Amino acid sequence: MTGDAAPATSVALAMAPRGPRHAMTPVVHRVFAVRHETIDVTTISLEPVTGPRLTFRPGQFNMLSAFGVGESAISVSSAPRDAGPLRHTVRDVGPVTHALCESSVGDLIGVRGPFGSDWQVPGRGERDVVDASDTVVVAGGIGLAPLRGAVDELVARYGEGGGRVFVFVGAREPSQVVFHRDLELWKRSGARVEVTVDRGSPGWSGHVGLVTSLLSSSEFDPSNAKALICGPEIMIRFTARALVDQGVAAGRILVSLERNMQCGLGWCGHCQLGPFLLCRDGPVVAYAGMVSVLLTERER
Ligand SMILES: Cc1cc2nc3c(=O)[nH]c(=O)nc-3n(C[C@H](O)[C@H](O)[C@H](O)COP(=O)(O)OP(=O)(O)OC[C@H]3O[C@@H](n4cnc5c(N)ncnc54)[C@H](O)[C@@H]3O)c2cc1C
Ligand code: FES
Repeated sequence: MTGDAAPATSVALAMAPRGPRHAMTPVVHRVFAVRHETIDVTTISLEPVTGPRLTFRPGQFNMLSAFGVGESAISVSSAPRDAGPLRHTVRDVGPVTHALCESSVGDLIGVRGPFGSDWQVPGRGERDVVDASDTVVVAGGIGLAPLRGAVDELVARYGEGGGRVFVFVGAREPSQVVFHRDLELWKRSGARVEVTVDRGSPGWSGHVGLVTSLLSSSEFDPSNAKALICGPEIMIRFTARALVDQGVAAGRILVSLERNMQCGLGWCGHCQLGPFLLCRDGPVVAYAGMVSVLLTERER
């Protein structure tokens, strides 16, 4: 963390919405904290300049605007049970994500959302939903960010008698593994956590290989498991197929898919995948029926 929040500026107050909010109008947030996770991945914590904090479900995303640069879809990486500011974890790949990663405490960022579907993980206050099935969470690289809130909820529920949680993380190399502290915490709280890298480096004594190589030796019960997968699309395809081959029902495998998002509201069509608009029908969809066909067709 790099310090405390700066006081609200007159600019922020002038930009803050006064009446009912239009869905295309960002709510101005102030950067409350910045945390550099890896050389190109940064977590920014945001507080609204005025008004209440946004509520969301794990897996949903916001459109974040770097004023004067543009807007990008970024998943919420906090958990609803976190009392603190809204977190987003961003990889610097282009102009908008670069500006977001470069932001400092006190800077202003626009937030529209939350949008889209979620991981369907029951949260606090939904304790009546008893689900003792195993959950297999598979993340590739920064794909752990949209899953982080879901894993927090699942691990908390495991401590309260819920199903077992298996977390498999793959990264290109050790320096690209994100959320070390969370991985340790989840492990200490009873989750099975395994990390693998495509290429080791001096000092790395962990697993080397694709994330799919971790699945077959694991103890989860495929007949009663559900799975959550997020990462590069090729990794999603191979992982979902491997899980189906192991006996996990395709309809119980949820995947998060990325497309170019512009409006986030089902208006512009930029995020289309076959009959789906992924800002509205996704990003989290079941790997069954049309979705698995469309993902396979993209491969041909
Ligand atoms: C629902 C959803 C949730 C998302 N959640 C996150 C998140 O939590 N964190 C995050 O960092 N990003 C996330 N993304 C991706 C993010 O929206 C894009 O990386 C961002 O819009 C790129 O904008 P830019 O202006 O920085 O770069 P652009 O100029 O738009 O892109 C720069 C270059 O990077 C490539 N690129 C674009 N996206 C990616 C990507 N995801 N990975 C690698 N290369 C890419 C482009 O093809 C282009 O070559 C999400 C996308 C969607 C649709
Ligand atoms: S982003 Fe405009 S329709 Fe989905």
